Amino acid sequence: MFLCVSLNPAIDKRLRLERLRVGDVNRVRKACPSPGGKAAHVAMVLRTLGADPMWLGFAGGATGKQLIEGLKELSIRVHEIPTSASTRTNLEIVEDDGGVTEILEPGRITDDELPRCERTLREVLGQATEQPTVIFSGSLPEGAPPDIYKTLIELAHEFGSRVFVDTSGDPFKFALAGKPDFVKPNRSEAESWSRQTIDNPASAKRIIGAILNAGPAAGAISLGSAGLIWHSINGDTLFAAAPQLSVQSCVGSGDSTLAGFAFASQQRLSPAEAVRLAAACGSANCLAPGPGRARAEDIASLKDKISVGTLA
Ligand SMILES: Nc1ncnc2c1ncn2[C@@H]1O[C@H](COP(=O)(O)OP(=O)(O)OP(=O)(O)O)[C@@H](O)[C@H]1O
Ligand SMILES: [Mg+2]
Repeated sequence: MFLCVSLNPAIDKRLRLERLRVGDVNRVRKACPSPGGKAAHVAMVLRTLGADPMWLGFAGGATGKQLIEGLKELSIRVHEIPTSASTRTNLEIVEDDGGVTEILEPGRITDDELPRCERTLREVLGQATEQPTVIFSGSLPEGAPPDIYKTLIELAHEFGSRVFVDTSGDPFKFALAGKPDFVKPNRSEAESWSRQTIDNPASAKRIIGAILNAGPAAGAISLGSAGLIWHSINGDTLFAAAPQLSVQSCVGSGDSTLAGFAFASQQRLSPAEAVRLAAACGSANCLAPGPGRARAEDIASLKDKISVGTLA
């Protein structure tokens, strides 16, 4: 079982237009809303891989209702915590030449809503017959303390759950101290944490080592079209190349990669197969109609095209 926790969910709206004209009127050709926030993307990919994930998170107003209904339509079990603020909407503007611009609203919660989330998480974990892998993904809403993931990681560990984390900035820094079982920053997140540049697999390997020294048991750094590097629990560092693709948008590829790692871990795949699946999920997301909407057939065919090697 997987429990995908979303403190800052959203409706994702992918807008397609010929060219974005800043400071001018832009008419879009197509607008596709779908459940969003990183945890929703992870849950959607886990569902596509054949798992039965549960999403737990905040939802408010008409957009919150749309989010919950959208998740249920995708056969994702939902545990919703009502908020007084409406769920935010994130815009992903995709231009015909492949340019992608994201416009992300802030989410908001009130002082009593976060304790309610902690209580709900405690209840869900307390009632579970089999301890789920808990996945904390995404930024924090305004009003949440930056060390909240550390608190929640420790809570999940109390119940014996394994914990996967994907976030950025201060929430990432504090989350490391909670000693999660797995983290997956992308290149810029790892660079801003380490204040060092990643320009080749060797520098990525060095920085993932430094990140693991700060607490997590295992971790990967995703490098976009330059591939994926993973320091596994048995101490090997593996690298998965990214195939050349005709990309729609790669927003959500890191979330899809995280879902691949979580699924591979539950299925006890070998390290090489785990990183191959994770990379295939990330790449398949680039071909998908929206973030987290990778198609099973794309994941399967990309797995065959991804080469995996061990880094000395
Ligand atoms: N342009 C691309 N072509 C092929 N594969 C890609 C491409 N971009 C990403 N991928 C695959 O997806 C993985 C995750 O991508 P990326 O590093 O962009 O994640 P991210 O920045 O965390 O994304 P997000 O936070 O939006 O989910 C990469 O490691 C790679 O395997
Ligand atoms: Mg990411």
